[in-house]
Amino acid sequence: MTLPLLLALAACDAEPPPELRVAGGDAAAGRVVVGERGCGACHVIPGVRGAVSWAGPPLEEWSRRGWLAGRFPNRPDTLVAWLLDPQAMSPGTAMPNLGLTEAEARDAAAFLFSIGAGRAERVPAGMPLAPGDGGPRPDPRIRPRDG
Ligand code: HEC
Repeated sequence: MTLPLLLALAACDAEPPPELRVAGGDAAAGRVVVGERGCGACHVIPGVRGAVSWAGPPLEEWSRRGWLAGRFPNRPDTLVAWLLDPQAMSPGTAMPNLGLTEAEARDAAAFLFSIGAGRAERVPAGMPLAPGDGGPRPDPRIRPRDG
């Protein structure tokens, strides 16, 4: 894939739908927070240099994920709360508290919701597929990166 095409894809990911916008969150600042706080030690995160670890779940297509930590609807309020204190939300989870401030958590959440936004299809937060939707589909929900 050529560099201009990669840049164009990255630009597509900039604008999440209204229900995934984080009040007071700045996605560009959030990308810096995510890079500096070492999230990439455990996560694959598109757009963050060196974030290539599979210790935790990959955060690719984050704006299209229905659930957070397998327990909470993936929404701005739940994601900000998770980033502030994962141990309070899910005691004993392998994700440690990282000491983010409220502003940092909002910025990081805004950045995460920019990942995968702008794609034609979205999975509404917390909504499983209807019966029968899980079979062969002409247009898979998660498309290949260069598709
Ligand atoms: C020491 C490893 C580690 C670090 C560092 C870490 N995480 Fe996690 N993270 C995890 C693990 C493990 C999970 C899965 C937790 C669960 O499902 O209970 C997780 C879950 C998540 C989830 C939900 C993923 C999903 O698929 O539901 C998000 C979002 C997330 N982390 C973001 C971050 C961000 C942003 C940072 C940096 C501020 C960060 N994490 C730092 C290990 C880590």
